[in-house]
Amino acid sequence: METIVLTRKDVESIISMKEAINAVEEAFRLYATSKAIMPPKVYLTLEDGDFRAMPSYLMGYAGVKWVNSHPKNPEKGLPTVMAVFILNDPKNGFPLAIMDATFLTSLRTGAAGGVAAKHLARENSKVFGFIGCGKQAIFQLLAIKEIFDIELVKAYDISEKAELAFKEFCKKEGVDCMITNAKDACDCDVLITTTPSTSPVVKKDWIKEGTHINAIGADAPGKQELEIEILKKSKIVVDDLEQALHGGEVNVAHSLGIIRRENIYATLGEIVAGIKKGREGNEITIFDSTGLAIQDLAVAKIVYEKAVKKDLGIKIELI
Ligand SMILES: NC(=O)c1ccc[n+]([C@@H]2O[C@H](COP(=O)([O-])OP(=O)(O)OC[C@H]3O[C@@H](n4cnc5c(N)ncnc54)[C@H](O)[C@@H]3O)[C@@H](O)[C@H]2O)c1
Repeated sequence: METIVLTRKDVESIISMKEAINAVEEAFRLYATSKAIMPPKVYLTLEDGDFRAMPSYLMGYAGVKWVNSHPKNPEKGLPTVMAVFILNDPKNGFPLAIMDATFLTSLRTGAAGGVAAKHLARENSKVFGFIGCGKQAIFQLLAIKEIFDIELVKAYDISEKAELAFKEFCKKEGVDCMITNAKDACDCDVLITTTPSTSPVVKKDWIKEGTHINAIGADAPGKQELEIEILKKSKIVVDDLEQALHGGEVNVAHSLGIIRRENIYATLGEIVAGIKKGREGNEITIFDSTGLAIQDLAVAKIVYEKAVKKDLGIKIELI
């Protein structure tokens, strides 16, 4: 039997954001109804960076993403984050595919933001604020564009270069983008925060009733983008409770004892599966995203199945 090896270019060429949104939404539903298995991430922390192993099972496949974060890599001409996914047949363990998962990580993160906004933002949302204009912002925009008619994007970043590059990307996508300050970016229907900040960037007085926030940037202990007062007055939805308490937007407030488990309203899966209600009235909602292994597996499954159909990738006798 042969294993398919798929490069980043192969992966990019074969899966769309729309497919990723549908797959990720289904993965959340399966996880909430105990039809997916996902043990906690395993962390390997070393001097120059860290690694995470993210295993899971769903929809007839098992797999693991092995992903690093080495902050000094750009100085060496390497990306900070690089990821590889191994997809296995759960019946016999055979490695069906080995693929780049660097692109998949951004794609599935964008897709989760899209799913969250679909269920939690006001249906007629038109103005989208972005705090942080890097890589994740781009994928959040691509997902939002699949779900809403965007009238205006308001963008803020501490780097002017990042703001201008994001504006240029919006233009290419046919989306109007205005560069603003942080406060004005928050005057929107849906706010998307994608910074690696460890102190709040978004102030409580800037957030109006009815706003939905996709809090994407905080995915490790100590990271925080929103003032804790915002969490206290909002309906908080997490991707996974344990991961969110450990490293999500709520981690700092939780470690200070201000936000407790019982203050978390639901998981996104519970809302997608109809176990809990999504938006109710003019409340402020927050999706606290940390990134789940089931999201990676759901998109890797599509990539593999389409690659088989299209005869894409290199087949090797690995085993
Ligand atoms: N939730 C998830 O599933 C998930 C997945 C991938 C990445 N992330 C996290 O998202 C964050 C962003 O990742 P990325 O790949 O977009 O990084 P990136 O470096 O491409 O972009 C981050 C941007 O934030 C800007 N920024 C930093 N501090 C800021 C501040 N205080 N105010 C405004 N802008 C600020 C930077 O200038 C940069 O343009 C990281 O913390 C990363 O770990 C989360």
